[in-house]
Amino acid sequence: MRIDILTLFPDMFNGFLTESIIKRARENNLVEINVIDFRKYSTDPNNKVDDTPYGGGNGMVLMCQPIYDDIEAIKTADSKVIMLTPDGNTYNQSLAYDLSKEKHIILLCGHYEGFDERIKTIVDMEVSIGDYVLTGGEIPAMVLIDSVSRYNSGVIAEESIEEESFANGLLEYPQYTRPEVFEGVKVPEVLLSGHHANIEKWRKEKALEITKLKRPDLLK
Ligand code: 6GU
Repeated sequence: MRIDILTLFPDMFNGFLTESIIKRARENNLVEINVIDFRKYSTDPNNKVDDTPYGGGNGMVLMCQPIYDDIEAIKTADSKVIMLTPDGNTYNQSLAYDLSKEKHIILLCGHYEGFDERIKTIVDMEVSIGDYVLTGGEIPAMVLIDSVSRYNSGVIAEESIEEESFANGLLEYPQYTRPEVFEGVKVPEVLLSGHHANIEKWRKEKALEITKLKRPDLLK
């Protein structure tokens, strides 16, 4: 899949794209990710991308022209254009999964300011990552790319995708590794038993118990 990020702060993506699983997925050509500074598309002599709001008020508003021209230049019939904005639909695992099936995603990051409402005519979806306000759409874009591309990374085992939190509607069961006793606390006996059916049963029960306790809303 291909993901194009439209941003005014391309350097914010440096570490994110060059470490760990995203780095490997890119190296293995499983995802292609491009960072585009949409200021480059400004036709203004000073490369202006924002202006004061009509009707007055504080702050600036991202103008239509640079973003519109940038999207028009890169989009095809297979593209999904996503605007990252606090008033979008709240992101979740099922949307991450759906987006992982797309061929081409264009992510539009705002910063501090809002977008001119008319940009929405070429946007397919508005997405927020939660009920709090961030200074820009760059971190939300990283959240979306991370969660989407791990499905396509080829480095995450199929089983761990099936077992992980949220995919089956439950939080994950507790995990332990060596040593058997740490600070007086022992690993649950069943995990040392080698009895696979009992281990599986214990894990299912624990996942349900933890979900009931921490996220009862997921069980509805
Ligand atoms: Cl997508 N953008 C901004 N600026 N703040 C947010 C957000 C997005 N999602 C949650 N807060």
